[in-house]
Amino acid sequence: MRLTVTPGAPLRGAIRVAADKSISHRAVIFASIAAGVTRLRNLSRGADVRATVEAFRAMGVRIDEAGGDAEVKIRGVGLHGLRQPPGAIDLGNSGTALRLLAGVLCAQPWPSKLTGDESLNARPMARIIAPLTQMGARIASESGDGCPPLVIAPAPRLRGIDYALPVPSAQVKSALLLAGLYADGATTVTAPAATRDHTERMLAAFGAPVFADGDGDGDRVGVRGGGELRAGDGAGDGDGDGDGELVLEVPADLSAAAFFLVAATVIDGSEIQLRGVGVNPTRSGILSILRRMGAGLELRAERVVSGEPVADIHARAAKLRGIDIGADEVALAIDEIPALAVAAACAEGSTTIRGAAELRVKESDRLSAVAAGLTALGIAVEEHPDGLTIHGRGEGRGRGPFRGGIIDSRGDHRIAMAFAVAGGAATGAVTVRDCANIGTSFPGFCQTARAAGLAVQVGDE
Ligand code: S3P
Repeated sequence: MRLTVTPGAPLRGAIRVAADKSISHRAVIFASIAAGVTRLRNLSRGADVRATVEAFRAMGVRIDEAGGDAEVKIRGVGLHGLRQPPGAIDLGNSGTALRLLAGVLCAQPWPSKLTGDESLNARPMARIIAPLTQMGARIASESGDGCPPLVIAPAPRLRGIDYALPVPSAQVKSALLLAGLYADGATTVTAPAATRDHTERMLAAFGAPVFADGDGDGDRVGVRGGGELRAGDGAGDGDGDGDGELVLEVPADLSAAAFFLVAATVIDGSEIQLRGVGVNPTRSGILSILRRMGAGLELRAERVVSGEPVADIHARAAKLRGIDIGADEVALAIDEIPALAVAAACAEGSTTIRGAAELRVKESDRLSAVAAGLTALGIAVEEHPDGLTIHGRGEGRGRGPFRGGIIDSRGDHRIAMAFAVAGGAATGAVTVRDCANIGTSFPGFCQTARAAGLAVQVGDE
């Protein structure tokens, strides 16, 4: 599938973007291994979260999707109630699903195998294999190259460890905390920079013994083994208000909103509202970075929904300036760098992003994909081992800083959506190839983009 975007009208109106993928994965995992019933509202419909749902179904968890609406009911089996699946668990494109599940499966009394698509099977897993092995897990890369498939054998017992993450990674932290639920003693994880804390928040919602300690640098969290996760008793009282069940509502995904925040900022005359978006401070680097560049973003109706901060975000067109973005900020905007690169290209002056080497091991090598895409659209860019310098064309531009062209998304959903948005600020049509994986996180992207005013056409390769 390819997308072609032609420059045109400004973005207008109020939209709701796809449900949060990170929170959705965790909601399915925790609800499945909790005792009791959880109702999940607005669960992500993307293929990544579907892979997590199918994995737990294969392990004996009953997951009912109420016809048509976005509510999913999960009857948790408790920490020790999962059953051996009939075959390997295929997690498609999803690194989050594979890494978090590895933490759970290491603790099961049966063997398992985790695999994925070509992209996932090329992603580094030593980062979870090493600490899980320290905990006593028997987990290995099948081919020995450190990538999936991962083969897991039952371990007699897991023991808690204190682990300092070499790179800030919420996925690794979460895998260790999940394994820690099954381990003897406490498992603590320290990260060199703050990473998203959805796991910690959700553990607390399920009554797990999670703790964070304030030694000043903030990101040390831990969990004690031997407890249990509790949802509800499932009894209900028939009035449909969910008594006896834990109800969790998933916010809209800030990582999906990012494309529209950038589009509204860089396309002249735009003004949009994004409803019900998660604005967790461990994820909201995109907001502070865009503001530092000069964007007009406003949070309205700030509230807390199911333990997560949520707001309506207003964005309007603004003149941007280039800035320097360092490692700490990158960690808070790790999935938004492709969208930010599009904003940087529209800014006056240069933007340098450093401390972003992790982007080379995401669904694609995102530093290389962004550099190639910007170059194809006439933007001067230098690629560094851990970042990019983007020479913005904001000053004295006519209709838009980009020229038309053809972009290869490399099968990466975020590269595809970032360059689709660039098409709205171009002088000619931008065609993005290999876009089917947009469905991993944002199945309704084209409809939402059109509703906002972006002229998107879908075609075959
Ligand atoms: C995620 C964490 C991030 C992010 C990924 C989702 C999560 O990965 O890039 O898309 O849900 O925990 P790392 O924490 O490994 O950098």
